[in-house]
Amino acid sequence: MSSTFNAEEHKKMLRSYFNGQGFQRWASIYGDDKLSSVRNTVRQGHAVMMDKAFDWVQQLRLPKGATVLDAGCGTGLFSIRLAKAGYKVKSVDIASQMVEKAREEAIKQNVHKNIDFEVNTIESVNGIYDAVVCFDVLIHYPAEGFAQAFQNLSSLTKGSIIFTYAPYNKILAFQHWIGGYFPKKERRTTIQMIRDEEMQKAMNTTGMQVKIREKVSFGFYHTMLMNASHK
Ligand SMILES: C[S@@+](CC[C@H](N)C(=O)[O-])C[C@H]1O[C@@H](n2cnc3c(N)ncnc32)[C@H](O)[C@@H]1O
Repeated sequence: MSSTFNAEEHKKMLRSYFNGQGFQRWASIYGDDKLSSVRNTVRQGHAVMMDKAFDWVQQLRLPKGATVLDAGCGTGLFSIRLAKAGYKVKSVDIASQMVEKAREEAIKQNVHKNIDFEVNTIESVNGIYDAVVCFDVLIHYPAEGFAQAFQNLSSLTKGSIIFTYAPYNKILAFQHWIGGYFPKKERRTTIQMIRDEEMQKAMNTTGMQVKIREKVSFGFYHTMLMNASHK
């Protein structure tokens, strides 16, 4: 495994991106602005993933008022949905801009009393929750950073972590190498792919096991949705 990964530098880069250019880009994808056809497929694919993930949360059959951590909540789409369904939600994001936008939306939709917002990172957030969700955040982490962040997330629940990641894929790796699979003007942060053996190592280290995994592919949106829980 590469030893060049610098966790602090990486967080700094992500915080700065998601408080700046990344905020504009993702807030418009997660909102209702008119989008290019490429980004529109990302919006639709993300919605498909969220619907599936929400079903998986419901299938956990958690008791009424159960606590869920939304790690890297972005503009709060999933947090708000959870709060509306009666869960007690903790929503954290590295970018204060994202947290403010999520809070604004929660107030608009009158569910803010069920959501505790915090500017924090997936590596540092603490507490204990009935379930943890983390969508389209770990895709920004190379294997070493992924392992560190996953270790913290797994320590925050005795139940499931439902999350997305980008599985290693030879064609995508080649496309990244030649300059990114998004058309030039649509590029976003680099997607980091995780190999099966790296995922297995993260599971072994944390004492977790994969319950379900399902690929979600829609236009330019490709992700692997996974439910992992303690053995
Ligand atoms: C692509 S967005 C996904 C947002 C949300 N999970 C969703 O699917 O709607 C990625 C989010 O992860 C956040 N993020 C990136 N690195 C993070 C970290 N280390 N800790 C917490 N949040 C992080 C970003 O600020 C951004 O809001």
